[in-house]
Amino acid sequence: MNAKSTKEAKTLPPARPVPESLARLRAAVEKAGAGGGPERVAAQKARGKLSARERVHYLLDEGTFQELDLLATTRATAFGLKDKDIPGDGVITGFGQINGREVCVYAQDFTVIGGSLGLAHAMKICKIMDLALQNRVPVIGLLDSGGARIQEGVDSLDGYAHIFRRNVLASGAVPQISVILGPCAGGAVYSPALTDFVFMVEGISNMFVTGPDVVKAATGEEVSAEHLGGAEAHAAKSGVCHFVAKSEPDCFRQVRELLSYLPQSRWEKPPRVANPDPIRRQVPLLEKMCELDPRRPYRIHHIVWQIADEHKFFEVQSAYAKNVVTGFCRMGGEVVGVVANNPAHLAGALDINASDKAARFIRFLNAFNIPILTLVDVPGYWPGVQQEHGGIIRHGAKILHAYAEATVPKITVILRKAYGGAYIAMSSKHMGADFNFALPSAEIAVMGPAGAVEILYSREIAACKSDDEKLALKAKLSADYAAKFASPYQTASTGSLDEVVEPAHLRAKIARALRFLKDKRTPGQSDNRGNIPL
Ligand code: HXC
Repeated sequence: MNAKSTKEAKTLPPARPVPESLARLRAAVEKAGAGGGPERVAAQKARGKLSARERVHYLLDEGTFQELDLLATTRATAFGLKDKDIPGDGVITGFGQINGREVCVYAQDFTVIGGSLGLAHAMKICKIMDLALQNRVPVIGLLDSGGARIQEGVDSLDGYAHIFRRNVLASGAVPQISVILGPCAGGAVYSPALTDFVFMVEGISNMFVTGPDVVKAATGEEVSAEHLGGAEAHAAKSGVCHFVAKSEPDCFRQVRELLSYLPQSRWEKPPRVANPDPIRRQVPLLEKMCELDPRRPYRIHHIVWQIADEHKFFEVQSAYAKNVVTGFCRMGGEVVGVVANNPAHLAGALDINASDKAARFIRFLNAFNIPILTLVDVPGYWPGVQQEHGGIIRHGAKILHAYAEATVPKITVILRKAYGGAYIAMSSKHMGADFNFALPSAEIAVMGPAGAVEILYSREIAACKSDDEKLALKAKLSADYAAKFASPYQTASTGSLDEVVEPAHLRAKIARALRFLKDKRTPGQSDNRGNIPL
């Protein structure tokens, strides 16, 4: 200590004793804030997981978190609960900001009795969900829980019911995001399933209705938790999960990015974010579509990147039903939802999973005032017994329903194939699209040339004397058919297309149309809808 600080120390007034009431508050806050204590926090770390408080810190803007109900805890006493410390009842709840915008958040704390959900825990979550709905802000759940708190019996099951009901009431009103950061088992999975977007992190997130032990007992199948309900399984196979992250910080970065495309609620539009990309930017690369072999696959992403502001596309459910691509981009700074056939997978045909994926996304966009850009290159529905018996009729109908009921601005661009029922389903003019464009490479018909001539000229083909004669006749008939239908011009002549567009002008055309549709109204058509899981 130098001379100066010795002198200062001498002149400091004596420390005032802390009043007992203040000391009591500070002690209670410190105890509750410590979660399950150092041992359990260390165990959480050993599993490669962040603590619930660290998670809230990573997710929200620095210093914006306002915690509620830190001191709330269970009133249950049975099965040893009366002797247990259950700080915050195993969940942190409150509000804060992301990119300067308010959100409500809850984070289950696995270090406190396994993050299990008792009635007080559930009511804390419900309070925050009610606040989100009343104040029209998104709600984000960070889930890490052993499920219903066994000691509380039916109270904990009822707790889930309170939450599920609120998930439904908030559906389509405020964005709801679930981030799975540990176990999420049994009926508990149905809260995330009712929300709009589910995030999972490789290696630490699990979701299943019945875990590996029950599966083994019931069916004899031996399966690991990761294989049964890990991020990979739900992103690629079940379609439950929309976004996968490699680490928790990466996951929170993705949540923040997703929110940048969303409005705070259905009573707002998504925020406009200006950028320097000229709205009339020419896209000469799209002229390549006009020389592409109609059977050649390509990734639809290349088209989206050409059209979007700054070539940015934020894809949703990228690993699931890859034959349809869904996601967000901006045009002229305004958010647009993209729904596109992807010829790189199943030739871009519609099947059961693609129908569900597209329909739910369209319904989300409609609920939250986000215009829809549909990019069409679809040979039809994917054929097969499995598809028919799996209910492609029932699932395919969801896309038709979603587009027809959507009142947000809808722009459709036919890039190449648009055949049969799939042409209609992909936001055709008379399903209610506002503007329908096509590139000169578009082919719009009831079916492809090969199938059409087999039906129209079956007698003539059967009368051929040799296979060579058959082939030659089919080739000629197909060419005649293609000349009439394998173009956009018959459709343009009926008004079912508004314009056949120079490919290089496509971005400018779409942006101009969106600008015109900015304040679109649809009198007589209700625009108040939830986002039911499909
Ligand atoms: C009460 C629970 C609990 C629960 C975990 N714990 N789950 N306490 N109710 N549901 C407690 C443990 O007793 C332990 O307490 C602490 O949390 C950590 O759990 P561990 O088992 O030590 O952790 P780990 O080995 O990592 O295993 C995690 C787990 C396992 C896989 C989640 O705990 C587990 O299988 N839990 C039960 C899961 C389950 O069957 N839940 C009910 C599902 S049905 P101590 O004091 O030792 O630290 C359901 C219905 C919902 O949720 C219905 C909604 C409609």
